[in-house]
Amino acid sequence: MGNLVAEENAVEGLSDMEIQYYRYLHSFGNGIREPRWRGTRVVKFPNDLILYAQVIFKRTPDFIIETGTHFGGSALFLGDMLQLIGGKKVITIDVSHKLNPPKHPMVEHILGSSIDPEIVERIRREVAGAQVMVTLDSDHSTKHVLAELSAYQDIVSVGQYMVVEDCWTRRKKPYWPWYAVREFLKENRRYRRFNLEKQFIFAVTKDGWLRRRR
Ligand SMILES: C[S@@+](CC[C@H](N)C(=O)[O-])C[C@H]1O[C@@H](n2cnc3c(N)ncnc32)[C@H](O)[C@@H]1O
Repeated sequence: MGNLVAEENAVEGLSDMEIQYYRYLHSFGNGIREPRWRGTRVVKFPNDLILYAQVIFKRTPDFIIETGTHFGGSALFLGDMLQLIGGKKVITIDVSHKLNPPKHPMVEHILGSSIDPEIVERIRREVAGAQVMVTLDSDHSTKHVLAELSAYQDIVSVGQYMVVEDCWTRRKKPYWPWYAVREFLKENRRYRRFNLEKQFIFAVTKDGWLRRRR
């Protein structure tokens, strides 16, 4: 509890409701409250999953690239969504497969770092010419997220989203992705942020929905 209070004090500018959500997220650790998709744990806030579903149905990407697989529940969810819209494939990358993520006919697993130039190049070739959406959910340090934004910015198709997970919090560097998004948007006019989460008041992806404009 001491840690929670200390952490809450470090979170500036959150509404009471957001603090409640924050508490909820803290109980994710033991997995009891984590959503499951077809029985597999998804390290996501439920509102975010609906946002993903809505965006996928509206934007109809052929490919979704996910950095950070973990239990594999999010890849399973994205694979099912792509199957429903007649998309092609989810490509999910993680430095570890020790959690044994489940298989799905529409999901390709890559073992390695999301910013390894060989992996990025392999993906670029595989998705060339298709409609591509990207979700960044691996190492949430500002440095790593900036490297991912840079590596995948040309792979996302015009009109599609690059989603940066965990942007909602303003805790201090080096952890938080929001600082990477802020840097990226300063330099990059080809992307624009849309606050899709407002429909549901709050989501962990708050401030992290970046749509490529050109
Ligand atoms: C937050 S979890 C992913 C959660 C998952 N997307 C979900 O929604 O259920 C982060 C994952 O990123 C992986 N990871 C850390 N650094 C990475 C890197 N450089 N490249 C790819 N994956 C990485 C970790 O091994 C971990 O499994």
